[in-house]
Amino acid sequence: MSVPRIELAAAGPQLSRLVLGMWRLADWRLGTDELLALIEASVELGITTFDHADIYGDHTCEGLFGQALRRRPELRQRMELVTKCGIKPVSANRPGHGVTHYDTRREHILRSVESSLRALGTDRIDLLLLHRPDLLLDPDEIAAAVGALRDAGKVGHFGVSNFTASQVDMLTARLPFPVVTNQIEISPLAIGAWSDGTLDQCQRLRIAPMAWSPLAGGRLFHGRDERHRRVRRVLGELAAELDAGADQVALAWLLAHPAGILPILGTGKLDRIRAAVAACDLSLVRQQWFRLWTASTGEEVP
Ligand SMILES: NC(=O)c1ccc[n+]([C@@H]2O[C@H](COP(=O)([O-])OP(=O)(O)OC[C@H]3O[C@@H](n4cnc5c(N)ncnc54)[C@H](OP(=O)(O)O)[C@@H]3O)[C@@H](O)[C@H]2O)c1
Repeated sequence: MSVPRIELAAAGPQLSRLVLGMWRLADWRLGTDELLALIEASVELGITTFDHADIYGDHTCEGLFGQALRRRPELRQRMELVTKCGIKPVSANRPGHGVTHYDTRREHILRSVESSLRALGTDRIDLLLLHRPDLLLDPDEIAAAVGALRDAGKVGHFGVSNFTASQVDMLTARLPFPVVTNQIEISPLAIGAWSDGTLDQCQRLRIAPMAWSPLAGGRLFHGRDERHRRVRRVLGELAAELDAGADQVALAWLLAHPAGILPILGTGKLDRIRAAVAACDLSLVRQQWFRLWTASTGEEVP
């Protein structure tokens, strides 16, 4: 039982099909040794890609991860690090931010990456993402910053997150290097990617999307409204048919899409991570896939 690997785009990089997300890391309240054990266990299971952002945990998560990695630096060669930049939230840790805003100017990207490298204790980021589409985005600034970082060997590949299809089109047309992913919200409760053009675009460009909150941030299991209950009921039926857990069915549902979606897991619990790994071997037949779709939309496909 191991996690398959996938080329995000023709130009790479190769990542593990399941990614471990670090957004909630500070909430897990793990000591450095416990976190190191979790990272080691994930890598052993084949989850070698870790998803960060400069701002996670109020700018603390990269540093916590880096502290663990410093205890076993050789692990770095067996993993891929993804991080993001571009959001400047109001935060006690950043007293200069009077209003939450975006900044994708060259200077900020360079400064943010240097800070991520220091915090993570590494000399390269395998994949750098712009976290959100900046309302004042200037592709020339991005080209200059990411170009310099790539030339210096500090960033391997470049992608975006939460971009619309037309924003990706605009960037792809203007950048001298490829955009290798769009990290977007996709789950049985977040199905907008099927209608807003982002999944179509990933398939057209042959880039694999990364799915954040693949279990809807836990709402699949405890959400209270009518739609949550409907989706949960069908997940339960499918889980019984497939002799699997509801979480595994939800992940298998995403993994079934031909765009090559990479679910980013948000749990720090090893038993849940192991269950996710087993979901890579779970197949839904087409009718099972459509039953979950129908539960999500509340109506049969036309
Ligand atoms: N690019 C972006 O804008 C963006 C935005 C949000 C997130 N992300 C990335 O996506 C990653 C994943 O997001 P997420 O944390 O929302 O993912 P998620 O897997 O949808 O949600 C994780 C939550 O679901 C709970 N959960 C997981 N499995 C469960 C199960 N079997 N039963 C009950 N509860 C379960 C977890 O609780 P436990 O901790 O108790 O397991 C946790 O609270 C983040 O870490 C981050 O890297 C990116």
